[in-house]
Amino acid sequence: MSKDDQILKNTNAKLLNQFNASLMFDKKLYSQDIQGSIAHAKMLCMQNIITNDEQQKIENGLLQIKDEIQTDKFKWNIQDEDIHMAIEARLTKLIGDTAGKLHTARSRNDQVATDMAMYLQDKNNSISNKLKDIITTFVKLADKHIDTLMPGLTHLQHAQPINFAYHLLAYVQMFKRDYDRFQSSKNRNNLCPLGSCALAGTSHNIDRDKTAQLLGFNAPTSSALDTSSNRDMALEMLFNISMTSMHISRLSEELIMWSSSEFGFVTISDEYATTSSIMPQKKNPDVPELLRGKTGRVYGNLISLLVVMKSLPLAYNKDTQEDKEGVFDSIDTIEMSLDILNDMIKNITINNNNMQNACKVGHISATDLADYLVKKHNIPFRIAYHTTKEVVKYAKKINKDISALTIDELKASSSQLKDINDEVLECLDLKNSMNSRDSYGGTSENQTKNQINEIKKWLTETK
Ligand code: ARG
Repeated sequence: MSKDDQILKNTNAKLLNQFNASLMFDKKLYSQDIQGSIAHAKMLCMQNIITNDEQQKIENGLLQIKDEIQTDKFKWNIQDEDIHMAIEARLTKLIGDTAGKLHTARSRNDQVATDMAMYLQDKNNSISNKLKDIITTFVKLADKHIDTLMPGLTHLQHAQPINFAYHLLAYVQMFKRDYDRFQSSKNRNNLCPLGSCALAGTSHNIDRDKTAQLLGFNAPTSSALDTSSNRDMALEMLFNISMTSMHISRLSEELIMWSSSEFGFVTISDEYATTSSIMPQKKNPDVPELLRGKTGRVYGNLISLLVVMKSLPLAYNKDTQEDKEGVFDSIDTIEMSLDILNDMIKNITINNNNMQNACKVGHISATDLADYLVKKHNIPFRIAYHTTKEVVKYAKKINKDISALTIDELKASSSQLKDINDEVLECLDLKNSMNSRDSYGGTSENQTKNQINEIKKWLTETK
């Protein structure tokens, strides 16, 4: 071989090593990998597959490796390919041939599935807790704004008056469903893959229940063939994160609009905004914009793994190594997003007056007039609707909001209302309008308090 050919061969080998390796990112799983190995060795010992002495040596070696990694003394070598091989190679250096006994009755296929299962269980918990923190923050803010009027919108047009607490509580319901989704994934996936081996189980007399128990799982997985290439729980995590991100993104969009001059409903604290490098007067809502933007990348990670998985024949294929970076990225992103959102909401200023004044635009108590006519004058809603439309037309003509019309103006607005009683004015009042929607789940202060109480009860029950 010529010198040039030799150089080319070396470069290709290096490139291949890099292409094949996952160590750069799966080293994140070192503690799960070590915990799994310790449990596996204990089980092997209990089943008399290895001796007590060997088990002790293996465990001590693994604990030393853990310490080396945590104190940054561990030498990472990409040639080890992945975290499993890196730890085994170091263990062999530390305790010699006994290290080779650890891989009895397991394969890297069930090993990586176990590492990921443990990691995902842990993250299902930490993300759930962060969601609970957010819900607590929202409920605290809601408590202060039960009588803060704001316009409720549909099609981004003023629709009916609601209160700000009620608006916040809609997001609380979304985050509560998110919480349930993470918990449900955790419960469904509380199964231990270890002992499934490469794809079909093992001829060694192992005790998978024991391993599962040692690692804190409910039970072992049922089918080794399914287990070795199952990435459903990673996909569930990516989907659950995408759903939560979508909720955060919708809220961010509202915060961006609300902090604009047009709305002026909220003022985002200075730390969560930046100025423009050219326009000195500007305050840009960068943080909610980024929260909204990061949703795109989180969706991308979900779609990527769905596509990776879609045509994989049973059982393990190396393609599944591609699950990790996206999962890690989405988890890091959502954890950061939830913390930042929580803090931003804690520091936000609510401009009650601007919200209230916005209610005086757009005739948002019009439905109340129609409802009043139905209730008091026993006319069909469609007729009441048309009468109210005439009133709105009149109010627009004299440049007033329907909620500000006097009784004389009301009487003049439609022939149907010439004998209307003063009492009608009460139903046009914005606050009365909000409070009149007292059906379960409605916006009245009464129902809003009810919702807050239900959520507070849920928060204490899920502690
Ligand atoms: N690094 C691999 C992964 O993440 C571990 C499993 C490798 N198994 C194998 N038979 N090549 O998927």
